[in-house]
Amino acid sequence: MWSSRVAVRRLQKIAAAQLSVSTMQRALSTLPRVYVTRSMPPDGLDILRKSGQVQFETWDSDDPVPRAELLKKVKGVDALFCVLTEKIDAELLDAAGPNLRVVSTMSVGYDHLSLGELKKRGIRVGYTPDVLTDAVAELTVALLLCTSRRLVEATHEAKTGGWGTWRTLWLCGYELANSTVGIMGLGRIGVAIADRLKAFKVKKFIYTDVAPRPELANQIQAEYVSMDELAKQSDFLAVCCALTPDTQNICNKDLFSKMKKTSIFINTSRGGVVNQEDLYEALNAGEIAGAGLDVTVPEPLPTNHPLFTLKNCVILPHIASASFTTRNAMSSLAANNLLAGLRGEPMEKELKL
Ligand SMILES: NC(=O)c1ccc[n+]([C@@H]2O[C@H](COP(=O)([O-])OP(=O)(O)OC[C@H]3O[C@@H](n4cnc5c(N)ncnc54)[C@H](O)[C@@H]3O)[C@@H](O)[C@H]2O)c1
Repeated sequence: MWSSRVAVRRLQKIAAAQLSVSTMQRALSTLPRVYVTRSMPPDGLDILRKSGQVQFETWDSDDPVPRAELLKKVKGVDALFCVLTEKIDAELLDAAGPNLRVVSTMSVGYDHLSLGELKKRGIRVGYTPDVLTDAVAELTVALLLCTSRRLVEATHEAKTGGWGTWRTLWLCGYELANSTVGIMGLGRIGVAIADRLKAFKVKKFIYTDVAPRPELANQIQAEYVSMDELAKQSDFLAVCCALTPDTQNICNKDLFSKMKKTSIFINTSRGGVVNQEDLYEALNAGEIAGAGLDVTVPEPLPTNHPLFTLKNCVILPHIASASFTTRNAMSSLAANNLLAGLRGEPMEKELKL
């Protein structure tokens, strides 16, 4: 008798649990759907999960989701959580359909997004400025020093027997003290780079941009100059502008030919701002002293690319924001932008379309 009463109670409990599971499933299925295009740093996914406001599916891989798969997966989603390898263009937006209200990219660069198409469809866009500025500026300084003081060549020589006796001019490079540093595109990252370089006793900061930016320039006592003057005067030229139709290939043979033979060119913005054939020629001919690139076209740059044959070219695999803290901060901000966008609230960082 006792055992049957217990069994009945057990059965009642199971039925209630089953009911609540199916109620939950029903509730879940009405939540906005999000497609996450990559395995993201954990903090951002935790925010989505704990919010209870969305259901999401992830392309759980370190490699990009194949385009055909992406086109399938976005069908009917309300929001997209993406990174810079996904081209968000008319084809993708058509495949997603009219439910798509929010695109949240885990990047400050937005050259992978067709802004006109997004605007036309009333889709809101979140991005991740500021949280990566410190990491990118720090890496840019590291790349600059690595290039100007020839660190890659030096470690190679030390490891492979090229290190003979101490020699007077062997592996000499160029120093920041008393130099002129030029910034192409004085935005958040440009200012942060200059701020760090001050400590190296730079004599003068100059910059060019679409227009003078006195409020930022004052922070680093930088002088506004033309593109020509930037090329002519800079001992170190750091490219920090966004990739746009206007800046595509803006660093070309015209620019390199005006630079000093002793100057160092650094690009941590986007590969598309540089004409790589012209850069190769300039480096090979000794028109400029060296180049440090964190970004290239294409990415990855094929290992047989001519730029890899040059000792005076240091190439990094697009790692400027790659610190654990920053990548988690980027994914958190992107997740919060996405949720705010879906709720119809202001995003913390929203791109004005
Ligand atoms: N390597 C990396 O991993 C990495 C990481 C973060 C950002 N980035 C790149 O760095 C760029 C800058 O980021 P930010 O946060 O400083 O952006 P930002 O918008 O604060 O600064 C960009 C600056 O470029 C200027 N600019 C635009 N068009 C120009 C032109 N034709 N000539 C000269 N200047 C021009 C803008 O006016 C602005 O001042 C991003 O767009 C992104 O592509 C790369």
